[in-house]
Amino acid sequence: MRIVVIGGAGTIGRRLVPALRSRHHDVVVAGRTSGDVHVDLSAPATIDAMYREIGAVDAVVSIAAHGALDEFATLTATALHENMRAKFFGQVDLVLTGQRYCAERASFTLTSGIFADQAWPHVTGGGVISGGLHSFTLSAAIELPRGMRINTVSPTMIGDSVDAFAEHFPGMRPVPMNELIDHYLDCVEGDSTGRVIRAYG
Ligand SMILES: NC(=O)c1ccc[n+]([C@@H]2O[C@H](COP(=O)([O-])OP(=O)(O)OC[C@H]3O[C@@H](n4cnc5c(N)ncnc54)[C@H](OP(=O)(O)O)[C@@H]3O)[C@@H](O)[C@H]2O)c1
Repeated sequence: MRIVVIGGAGTIGRRLVPALRSRHHDVVVAGRTSGDVHVDLSAPATIDAMYREIGAVDAVVSIAAHGALDEFATLTATALHENMRAKFFGQVDLVLTGQRYCAERASFTLTSGIFADQAWPHVTGGGVISGGLHSFTLSAAIELPRGMRINTVSPTMIGDSVDAFAEHFPGMRPVPMNELIDHYLDCVEGDSTGRVIRAYG
């Protein structure tokens, strides 16, 4: 398969891209400054330009752009909207725009996160982004044309990211990277659609 991985140079991407290539897929890595082709999920015109540049692909995997931490007492709707631009609206746009460019029966695999299902301080934005992505996945699965599929992987903190994130999320049990990578491979190579895969360790 020909696959574009947005965020393929990141923490998950550095493990997923070699796994896909070892299974003989042709992988294009995309990022704002990293990768073979440049795209910024917060800038819709760059998403359209990316699809025009790479041509029809059989799978789109998105593992890019975090929700920012926030302070509920001072949070505004404007700040929330800004927080949603890349990870929520950008990933939604990958699908809405991608349905016109991708190959017949192409798949989309998005990334959300545990805060859709688990309350935690300072992640109102993260929760709204991920919950919205889960609902979008259900709707898109029944509306996508030409046999296209969509699934979303919702990870908790990953084993490889404990050093970076444990101070913000003390006591959270991590999911092993190998387990997570298997979920992405299943989404790309399997035939499921409309699934939210809760990889919560
Ligand atoms: N790591 C975890 O523990 C964890 C847990 C739950 C959920 N997640 C989610 O999984 C996804 C990937 O996480 P990660 O830890 O692998 O991230 P990461 O290490 O920060 O890597 C992010 C990758 O995405 C690219 N990127 C960032 N912002 C982008 C944008 N606006 N447009 C296009 N590309 C962008 C970056 O490259 P450039 O800088 O070149 O753009 C980089 O290659 C994120 O959505 C994250 O919230 C991660």
